[in-house]
Amino acid sequence: MKLFEPLAIKNMVLPNRIMVPAMVTRMANEEGWVVPDVIDRYVRYAEGGAGLIVLEAIAVHQSKAGNLLRICDDRYIDGLRELTKRVHDTSDSKIVPQIIHFLKVSLSGWRQTVDMLSLADIDRIVDQFGDAVRRARQAGFDGAELHSAHAYTLSSFLSRRNGRTDEYGGDSLEGRLHMIGRVMENVRRKVGDDFPVGIRFNADEFILGGYTLEDSKLMALRFAQLGFDYISLSVGGKFEDAVHVPGHVFFPYTGYSGDRCMPNEWYPKAPHAYLAGAIKAFINAKGYDVPVAAAGKLDDPAVAEQVLVDGTMDFVAIARGLLADPSWPNKVKKGELDRIIRCDHCNVCKHLAGTHKVVNCFLWPKGSNQAPADDPTVGAPSWGLDKGGLTARFDNGTVELSWSKAPGAVRYEVCRADGDGRVHITDAVKTARALDHDTLAGMRYHYYVRAYAATGQGGPPSNTVVVEPRWPADAPPPRPAVAAAAR
Ligand SMILES: Cc1cc2nc3c(=O)[nH]c(=O)nc-3n(C[C@H](O)[C@H](O)[C@H](O)COP(=O)(O)O)c2cc1C
Repeated sequence: MKLFEPLAIKNMVLPNRIMVPAMVTRMANEEGWVVPDVIDRYVRYAEGGAGLIVLEAIAVHQSKAGNLLRICDDRYIDGLRELTKRVHDTSDSKIVPQIIHFLKVSLSGWRQTVDMLSLADIDRIVDQFGDAVRRARQAGFDGAELHSAHAYTLSSFLSRRNGRTDEYGGDSLEGRLHMIGRVMENVRRKVGDDFPVGIRFNADEFILGGYTLEDSKLMALRFAQLGFDYISLSVGGKFEDAVHVPGHVFFPYTGYSGDRCMPNEWYPKAPHAYLAGAIKAFINAKGYDVPVAAAGKLDDPAVAEQVLVDGTMDFVAIARGLLADPSWPNKVKKGELDRIIRCDHCNVCKHLAGTHKVVNCFLWPKGSNQAPADDPTVGAPSWGLDKGGLTARFDNGTVELSWSKAPGAVRYEVCRADGDGRVHITDAVKTARALDHDTLAGMRYHYYVRAYAATGQGGPPSNTVVVEPRWPADAPPPRPAVAAAAR
């Protein structure tokens, strides 16, 4: 599989093309020190076989943000060195930190924007990025990534909503690119040319008046020319459309752009792959072969493989899918697709991140702060003679399914075949009941349920039930279908 071909990013050779992009854990303490739980989280990704692990956003400054890792002083190097050592001792996974600067936000809803920064503030931020990457190198990381996506400072300079009117200003693309050019100059001066430095940025801001692919293609070209060693694409996650909850600080993933950034279950698979394809084609045509990855619902192994095979991207970023099951890479490599704990994009993890609680996955056994260890010897749960006794009831546009509990099961996947050969997982639940609100009258749905052990082993399918949602009584009867060829 192309997924398991190595990828050289300068002198950092990834053993495969699977990246865990940055995901805050909210496990660091108030001062931003690495604590044992943080190390365990990243060691687990290394055990699971990810090619590149991006350590969650780690700040270049001490500004208050609650449970965020810091790399703002040399005092932090030892703790980070312990983390990189443990990851390197575990497997050949590579690890880079995602280095972030963010502006101030307050409980009142006020937030600082880039136009409020003085030139001295800008100089300080430029220096802070260079020093942080230097510390990353000293701490044994294989490279570093600059966080220039979502709602944070570097991204806000790139944004079309950048309100500055000087040479860092939003009126011209060159103005918006000025800051990142200065940052990269300082980074290279402090770590040299041989240390891999990647950039994460938005391929589309997905906000009113924000930039789109037309700008991001050009930005990617500039980043390649500035000497970034990989490009990791994200989208959205902006303050501009965030919903402010009184008494809470703004969380930039609560508006439409936040939805796009961490697409829920109702989004199609790989909704941002087209952006990566266009950006990669554009920079390749200009003679730059900087590896490009993108995130967004790439956790179906067939889809992840396909975007590599068809050249849409060079490596894949899988966040929530690898949070749910850090052993995703090893299981896919061994062909154990049936053992994957499949993310259902319910976004409980995003909600935890937004409320500053320890980030875990709803699919893990209750109370766990880490993914269950991968133990293939644990038996799969199964039902008795009733095969789960699955029943379905259709009422008011909703299918209600219920079944009996399977001994040893920690969760159930509800599967639906829609008659066209495709089987969807419509829900992942911990109780023996699920609702499906997304059915259409006139269709014929086959449902079955599978019970799963904590380690991912799935039992046999339950009995199947068929549901044909009723046509609404007060709508005109459906017209007969006309074959397209008859037109
Ligand atoms: C809990 C959580 C924390 C995240 N933290 C970060 C972060 O620190 N930096 C970042 O660039 N993206 C962050 N993201 C976004 C992910 O890296 C990723 O782009 C997004 O989840 C979409 O990918 P997916 O569909 O594979 O989950 C976070 C996402 C989640 C769910």
